[in-house]
Amino acid sequence: MKSLGGTSNPASDRQDDFFFHFNASFRFDVRLAEVDVIGSMAYARGLARCRIFNETELTTVLVGLDNILQKLRQDPAWLKSQLALGYEDVHAWVEIELTKSVGDLGKRLHTGRSRNDQVATDLRLYLRDAIDRTQQAIASLQDALLKKAEAHPQVVMPGYTHMQKAQPILFAHYLLSYYEMLKRDIQRLKDCRKRVNIMPLGSGALAGNSLSIDREALARDLGFDGITANSLDATSDRDFAMEYLSVASISMMHLSRLAEDLILYCSDEFRFVRMGDQVSTGSSLMPQKKNPDALELIRGKTGRTYGNLMTLLTVMKGLPSCYNKDMQEDKEALFDSIDTWGLSLKVMKLVIDTLTLHPEAMLREAHKGYMNATDLADYYVGKGLPFRESHQVVSAIVKHAMEKGLSLNELPLDDYCRFYEGTDDDVYRAVSLESVLSKKASLGGTAPERVKEALRVARQDIRN
Ligand code: ARG
Repeated sequence: MKSLGGTSNPASDRQDDFFFHFNASFRFDVRLAEVDVIGSMAYARGLARCRIFNETELTTVLVGLDNILQKLRQDPAWLKSQLALGYEDVHAWVEIELTKSVGDLGKRLHTGRSRNDQVATDLRLYLRDAIDRTQQAIASLQDALLKKAEAHPQVVMPGYTHMQKAQPILFAHYLLSYYEMLKRDIQRLKDCRKRVNIMPLGSGALAGNSLSIDREALARDLGFDGITANSLDATSDRDFAMEYLSVASISMMHLSRLAEDLILYCSDEFRFVRMGDQVSTGSSLMPQKKNPDALELIRGKTGRTYGNLMTLLTVMKGLPSCYNKDMQEDKEALFDSIDTWGLSLKVMKLVIDTLTLHPEAMLREAHKGYMNATDLADYYVGKGLPFRESHQVVSAIVKHAMEKGLSLNELPLDDYCRFYEGTDDDVYRAVSLESVLSKKASLGGTAPERVKEALRVARQDIRN
């Protein structure tokens, strides 16, 4: 069992083995290995500015750290092999590894630094990268949605409210609604990054760094946009991680709703879309089945993402000021959400890429359900009826048409005239799908010209 000198209880010689494992975080904070080394390199340069290392010593330490970094990058199996060796945490591992190659110089690296400012710095460096990767993944999914919409700009589908047919919409308009949600997810992520990319290093365990290390220089070295202003806060808040977890939760909620839609739309009852074989599974029992597991898993994994947010909020809520070991519990929740969100975005992109449409089925359903009733009411308003009265007239017409088993487009003019004498032939134009759609021409509406414009704007947006 390897912990750093001074990290076991000074009152006893030896920690209980079982407790050592309970206390250890190496099996999961091992992910921070690269950023821990990178942070240590910057800190070594900072120490040299404080004359803790001379030029030659600094070079030796940096070469030692760089060797670890290169080995980490070139040989992932190496790090895995270290896991069984009983290190307490990733910080201990890096320092012990360094000391193995550069001797006692390695032991000077921790001068003025605490694992408290170190772990907070590592987490922020790691999360910053994760944010950049997540943003890329969201943008790729947006691109997939756009491509699908651009390929099918004319496809009409029923729009639902309360899961009841409401008004016809363009399928492209529907896809663009998710494009917009993802756009806000990116905005939230970018905003979260501003608070993540602030450096706690140089805050010590809680009270500050007694070497008066140049924190601004450290921050520049590590690509941080600024430094934390209070050492107690810097070492002991994890709100930046919670913020990421909440952004992840909101975005997973969006993915989950998209998943739910597509699960319905690919069912036999709808048949609006067909999932690609690449992302579907069969049943072990029922040969006819093709299951949307990919989408169900995205929907299901949304739950654990919410759980991770709750975990961290709950871990932190009762902690007294400054660092407490409870905070070691932040990592698994954070890492799990980073992975889950990233994978779900990737899988959703694959689902969209391989999705095929059944435009005839969507169109057939778009003709049903009297979704043009409001437009008929508008038509009578145009003829001079106040909306309330027109609403009543149309209710009666719809009821009558239902009884005859006809759509409003099929109902004979004589029938219309029984309810409103002044009905003309132009009523058929008013209730046609084309007219119903093109009338929704307010900004953000589903009129084909609007959707065309929205697609153009989105395409331009995504390029920038
Ligand atoms: N493994 C610890 C964590 O993740 C590192 C910080 C330990 N600090 C301490 N004072 N014991 O939080």
